[in-house]
Parts: sequence; structure tokens; C-alpha cells
Amino acid sequence: MVIISDATEEDLGEIYRIELESFDNPYPLSLLKAYLYLASVYVVAKENGQVVGYAIGIIQHRVRGHVVSIATAQGYRKKGIGSALLRSLEEAYKQRGCTYSYLEVRVDNEEAIRFYRKNGYLVTYTRKNYYGRGKHAFVMVKPLINKNLE
Ligand SMILES: CC(C)(COP(=O)(O)OP(=O)(O)OC[C@H]1O[C@@H](n2cnc3c(N)ncnc32)[C@H](O)[C@@H]1OP(=O)(O)O)[C@@H](O)C(=O)NCCC(=O)NCCS
Repeated sequence: MVIISDATEEDLGEIYRIELESFDNPYPLSLLKAYLYLASVYVVAKENGQVVGYAIGIIQHRVRGHVVSIATAQGYRKKGIGSALLRSLEEAYKQRGCTYSYLEVRVDNEEAIRFYRKNGYLVTYTRKNYYGRGKHAFVMVKPLINKNLE
């Protein structure tokens, strides 16, 4: 069974391992640690006590949630863990009054684009050179239905 909980310093080593195997340009451990204090939401997915995924979100201007980073450990993908992590961010955004969630994704990261689409995100525009020269990003957005506003 996979359990989602708030990330702690003790999880950082395993989060970093997932980061290294998931991204060409991984965040340094120091940044992953700094987000423990800077992020609005920082969650891990654990199976039998082992970290198998993580997600970081920041609420901006009280209206929108930014998905800063999300990754599932190789070997645990396509089991719904990423979606559960994303839902945790979105729930936190909604509880704090956000009306939408958004993120940047590399235009050639087809796996992630499919994952976000499946979770209700739509490509809205392209940010040229977002990840460096010639490395463009799609900005994907999902409106959040806020129960407080219904
Ligand atoms: C993107 C990522 C977080 C998805 O995590 P996950 O735990 O595999 O996601 P889920 O199991 O919840 O996938 C949900 C849906 O996304 C889509 N999806 C996910 N991985 C996919 C793949 N490799 N190929 C095609 N579709 C995929 C599928 O529609 C899937 O639903 P299905 O299993 O019912 O077909 C994971 O692939 C990952 O860590 N990638 C490397 C890091 C990364 O690129 N992060 C995003 C940066 S913007």
C-alpha cells in the first residue's frame, strides 16, 4: 500500500536518489532541502516505509498552485503513484483558495505530457528556451473547482 505524507529531512536521501534517476538536470540536494522550508506543499509517497515518489508545490499570489517538481521512482511508475501525488498538491491548493494549478514540462517529455493530460491539464502556450537554449517548455494548466466558492 502506498501512503502519501509530508516530506521530512529524513526522506531527503531517497528523494534525491529518485531525482537523479528521473531528470537530466536534477535539482541539487541542497535545493531539495531548501524546499522543505520554501514550498507550500512537499509530499512523499511511501511503500513499506520506502520513498517511491515525491512532489513539490508552491502557491503563488494566493490564486494559483505551481507544480515545481514531481517524480516517481523507476520501477514504481504507471501504478497511479504520480497521480496520487499530484492530487495531494491540488487538494492543498484548493484548500488554500487557488483557482488553478499549472506547470512547465519539456516539449519532448511525452511521458509526462501524457501523465498531465490524463490528470486534466491542458497545454496553454510554449515558453521558449525555458530549460536552456533550444529546450522549450509547454505550460500546462488545470482549473481547480474550489468548494468554498461553490
Ligand atoms: C511523469 C511521472 C511523474 C508519472 O508518474 P507515474 O507514477 O508513472 O504516474 P501514474 O501511474 O499516475 O500515471 C497516470 C497516467 O499517466 C499516463 N502515463 C504515465 N506514464 C506514462 C508513460 N510512460 N507512457 C504513457 N503514458 C503514461 C498514463 O495515461 C497513466 O495512466 P494509465 O497507467 O492508466 O495508462 C513519471 O513518469 C516520472 O517520474 N517521470 C520522470 C520525471 C518527470 O518527467 N517528471 C515530470 C516533470 S515536468
